[in-house]
Amino acid sequence: MAASTKLLIPLLVFFISSSSTTNNVSANSTPTILQSAAGCSNGQCQLRDGCSNNRDCAAGLYCLSCSLAFNGSRCVRSTIADQFKLLNNSLPFNKYAFLTTHNSFAIRGEPPGTGIPRVTTTSQEDSVTQQLNHGVRALMLDLYDFKGGIWLCHSFRGKCRDYTAFEPAMETLKEIEAFMSSNPSEIVTLILEDNVKTPNGLSRIFESSGLKKYWFPLSKMPQGGKDWPSVKDMVASNQKLIVFTSDRSKQQAEGIAYQWNFMVETQYGSGGLTGNCRNRRESAPLGDKTRSLVLVNYFGTVPVADVSCRYNSRGLMEMLGKCYLSAGNRWANFVAVDYYKRSNGGGVFEAVDKLNGEMLCGCHDVRACVVSFFFYYY
Ligand SMILES: *[C@@H]1O[C@H](CO)[C@@H](O)[C@H](O)[C@H]1NC(C)=O
Ligand SMILES: *[C@@H]1O[C@H](CO)[C@@H](O)[C@H](O)[C@H]1NC(C)=O
Ligand SMILES: *[C@@H]1O[C@H](CO)[C@@H](O)[C@H](O)[C@H]1NC(C)=O
Repeated sequence: MAASTKLLIPLLVFFISSSSTTNNVSANSTPTILQSAAGCSNGQCQLRDGCSNNRDCAAGLYCLSCSLAFNGSRCVRSTIADQFKLLNNSLPFNKYAFLTTHNSFAIRGEPPGTGIPRVTTTSQEDSVTQQLNHGVRALMLDLYDFKGGIWLCHSFRGKCRDYTAFEPAMETLKEIEAFMSSNPSEIVTLILEDNVKTPNGLSRIFESSGLKKYWFPLSKMPQGGKDWPSVKDMVASNQKLIVFTSDRSKQQAEGIAYQWNFMVETQYGSGGLTGNCRNRRESAPLGDKTRSLVLVNYFGTVPVADVSCRYNSRGLMEMLGKCYLSAGNRWANFVAVDYYKRSNGGGVFEAVDKLNGEMLCGCHDVRACVVSFFFYYY
């Protein structure tokens, strides 16, 4: 996705976002203090209630201002409903939906790894560890050979530059390893935009980051659209890290699964936000059931936090419905967005709850699959 990033657009965004203060809750404090004085505080504010800081909001929510979607500040979702804890993990991996961050490494405010100020776009604002702790289970990472190693980077004219680099991939892989070792029942999927040309470069960093021990082997990935093993079996066998590469040659050379052999994927960028749901060029048509996973992208070509907030707030559910039909009555397994915690309320969390609900019990919300559903509902 980032391969199309040109310098001009990032420059433009750099100036727009550096002159914007919409992320600053206290800058908008006058109306919100009035709102919450009349309403709630101290962890009692519910979904969409006005708030003045995160402590006002109930568990699983945080206080957000998002001027393109609503006035003032309100409590919005910040965590998933865990389908495995609510129900169980006995179904095949491809029967569940997972929250996915697009360009998970392109984190706003992250110090420049090269020491040179970065002039490029960002798509997220939480660290990868925070993303995982909030329920993100698939990460999209762009990898390049750079400075004698492998870096997470946007490109300019096909190459990672000092001013577009984020950090050595090893640092992020180690965060993922730390999360997986302290959360032994979780499955993590990595979707790599793989520009690494160094032979065995990827294999080496997966080995030295400590992630290789969780590797889900290519030989166990289902061919011809068959079901994946159950999540329960994947956890029991400790094969919990699924890695897909965009470089076809790596499947044979290094045993890393070529993404579009196993997955259909929708158009990314602004072309994926409107109209009919269709496949990106590299993917088989969405209705091709010889691939058992479905990935829906829903983010603009140029990421801007407040605009992403608006995308996550409206249109997403409708697009998931269209993609369900285009994919031959299959709900998406992965939904990829920018600034995943920004929305006017439920955002991508509600979308993933819907997908899991539809797949697991034919309900519009996974929390409705549970008998004691009121207990979990906030
Ligand atoms: C938020 O806004 C306040 C008041 O305008 C300012 O003092 C503070 O430095 C800002 N914080 C950030 C993180 O921008
Ligand atoms: C914010 O409030 C103003 C004035 O009441 C209103 O005109 C505007 O539409 C509101 N904006 C949003 C995004 O709701
Ligand atoms: C696990 O949950 C699924 C629905 O997600 C249900 O169909 C199945 O019966 C459950 N299995 C067990 C062993 O509880």
